[in-house]
Amino acid sequence: EKDLVIAIDGPAGAGKSTVAKIIAEKLGYIYIDTGAMYRALTLKALSKDYDLEDEQKLGVLAESTDIKLVKAGEDNLVILDGEDVTEEIRDNKVSNNVSVVAKVPKVRKEMVRLQRNMAKSGGVVMDGRDIGTIVLPAADIKVFLTASVEQRAQRRYDELIDKGEDVNLEQIKAEIIRRDNIDKNREVAPLTEAEDAIRVDTTKLDIGQVVEEILNICQEV
Ligand code: C5P
Repeated sequence: EKDLVIAIDGPAGAGKSTVAKIIAEKLGYIYIDTGAMYRALTLKALSKDYDLEDEQKLGVLAESTDIKLVKAGEDNLVILDGEDVTEEIRDNKVSNNVSVVAKVPKVRKEMVRLQRNMAKSGGVVMDGRDIGTIVLPAADIKVFLTASVEQRAQRRYDELIDKGEDVNLEQIKAEIIRRDNIDKNREVAPLTEAEDAIRVDTTKLDIGQVVEEILNICQEV
């Protein structure tokens, strides 16, 4: 059986990373969380107190930053310049600034280069915003995961409450809408559904059902 390249795109909170991780495990594939890469770079820019409007500086930063996704048992670690930042990149401060960093063309160019390199062996599940359209246009399977914004906000809210954070549902919803808007309207590689993607609406599905649907799609290839 051929090792597939599976691209999963969609807006924030549609369940991409949860589902992609499970599918990768079931198939024995590598899981590549491209959002984590943009998050890691954003964390670095924030920690250096960079002006996030300074595209030139962010471009140079991207080229001089080492980002690795490392599998350690059950965990997928994000290593930024040799340091484990797996937890920090999920901070709200990062979530609320990442789209501004991710719209910089030079930043994208560098991340896409790294992502294609990671995928070249095949047998990968990659999730993001531009995987089926730009990063891996020849992917064997392209899935576009969606869900209502209410449902996506509720999932993020539940996750953060679980982590013991003090959050507000309406505020999370507003942040998701804002982030999606920047991602959809940027000039380079905007969030959009590939023409040959299969759309899966997860609003009324649980994780197991979404996984099953995607595995069924894989079987047909
Ligand atoms: O997937 P996640 O929500 O962690 O992604 C964080 C942000 O990174 C997105 O909102 C988007 O701005 C950016 N991103 C991107 N292209 C990707 C993956 C993520 O622009 N392929």
